[in-house]
Amino acid sequence: MLQVDVVILAAGMGKRMCSSLPKVLHPLAGKPILSHVLDIARTLSPERICVVFGYGGELVRQVIGDHSDLIWVKQAQQLGTGHAVKQALPYLDNKGVTLVLFGDVPLVKSDTLKALIEKAREDNLVLLTVELDNPTGYGRIVRDPVTNRIQAIVEEKDASQLQKKIREINTGIMVLPNGRLGNWLDNLSDANTQGEYYLTDIIAMAVDAGMPIETSSPASDWEVSGVNDKIQLSILERAHQQDTANRLMEQGVMFADPARFDVRGRLVCGNDVEIDINCIFEGNVRLGNNVKIHANCILRNVIVSDGSVVHPFSLIEDAEVGKNCRIGPYARIRPGTQLDDAVHVGNFVEIKNSHIASESKVNHLSYVGDTEMGRRVNIGAGAITCNYDGAFKHRTVIEDDVFIGSDTQLVAPVTVARGSTIGAGSTITRDTPEGQLTLSRTKQTSIANWKRPRKDRN
Ligand code: UD1
Ligand code: CA
Repeated sequence: MLQVDVVILAAGMGKRMCSSLPKVLHPLAGKPILSHVLDIARTLSPERICVVFGYGGELVRQVIGDHSDLIWVKQAQQLGTGHAVKQALPYLDNKGVTLVLFGDVPLVKSDTLKALIEKAREDNLVLLTVELDNPTGYGRIVRDPVTNRIQAIVEEKDASQLQKKIREINTGIMVLPNGRLGNWLDNLSDANTQGEYYLTDIIAMAVDAGMPIETSSPASDWEVSGVNDKIQLSILERAHQQDTANRLMEQGVMFADPARFDVRGRLVCGNDVEIDINCIFEGNVRLGNNVKIHANCILRNVIVSDGSVVHPFSLIEDAEVGKNCRIGPYARIRPGTQLDDAVHVGNFVEIKNSHIASESKVNHLSYVGDTEMGRRVNIGAGAITCNYDGAFKHRTVIEDDVFIGSDTQLVAPVTVARGSTIGAGSTITRDTPEGQLTLSRTKQTSIANWKRPRKDRN
């Protein structure tokens, strides 16, 4: 099999992003642009990946991190794409081929690159090209008018009026034979309009050496779009999200509007999942069969099992939701929470680091933190666990079949035993006995001749 090295060019300044953050660290679908490129590169199982970095490079390296398959190559001065590849040359093999990717072209598909590499040999050159209605700004693919064979790539700024009419453009992504690369790169000149060492000049050199030049094209043009400013970034973000939505719809997911949907991570769905508008899925989210996520929900690292429904404006993080649960509207479920089957969590309820066993209900305005709750428990409106004493967190245990009256405070550590009923408005500081009514209330009194204070009308 042909050995493939990957060189990612990422040393450009990215001035048009108008940001102190290096361009390749800007997030797309919640992940740095460069991480997308690295992930795609890794699907090709290359021998090695060289990242050519420059501007803000130390931060780039710090954020992406050192990995055993990455070689960080510094290009101190940005003297052109040819100069950039040359910096990686000492790390490349003498055999096999090198795939050149751009650090700011994040959405090219693995299949597109595989098709490109499939055409590559140690004695040819393969270019990824597309035909654009508006080719302005790109290097043009110059072909022989008779044989249609590629002769050269001419940069926009160096192109003649006639060449500017060519609609086939260089995406920048290409596969080059390692055996010839060093010689070609050594012979590049910067005698052009931009005073740069153009990688694209090696095409004419290869033609002179009698090498065949092959081309291949992506399925969609947006795959090869680069990010130069925040408008382009936003366009790619939507293209990527729409693509993700399309794949989910192919698997049967129903969206109220796929244009108002965001995945920043990985979303896996069962059958007959419905997702309403403006939902965000972050990290790893798994939705079972027949799960419904209503409008404006955010789910981060969550598993929701079959038949559960999340009502609008709910936020769920690092939690597991069992089958046939009903959550929200306006629920906040925080990390460390596990809800078993058929649990109901209602509006303005916050649950943190708690296990709630099946068929229990916390329906209105409650805070449940650091709690172990049994089955068939009913928590009345406004009941809360007081889990924090200012220094330490304590656990609350609520056993099966407990009924907690409204506006109760359970001061942890405390255990409410099986079958207990707690009267509304109680402050429970000691463990309660099984099956009994426990309540702590001051006696109700009325003052007969009491007068409500009044403002003088004069
Ligand atoms: C390049 C191509 C052009 C192609 C276009 C596609 C060349 C000479 N031109 O033009 O044919 O149509 O991409 O978008 O190759 N970079 C470095 N070091 C440098 C210069 C660039 O790492 O010294 C990196 C940039 O960070 C970027 C990529 O190389 O990721 C492309 O550089 P850019 O300056 O954008 O090239 P273009 O002029 O757009
Ligand atoms: Ca560019």
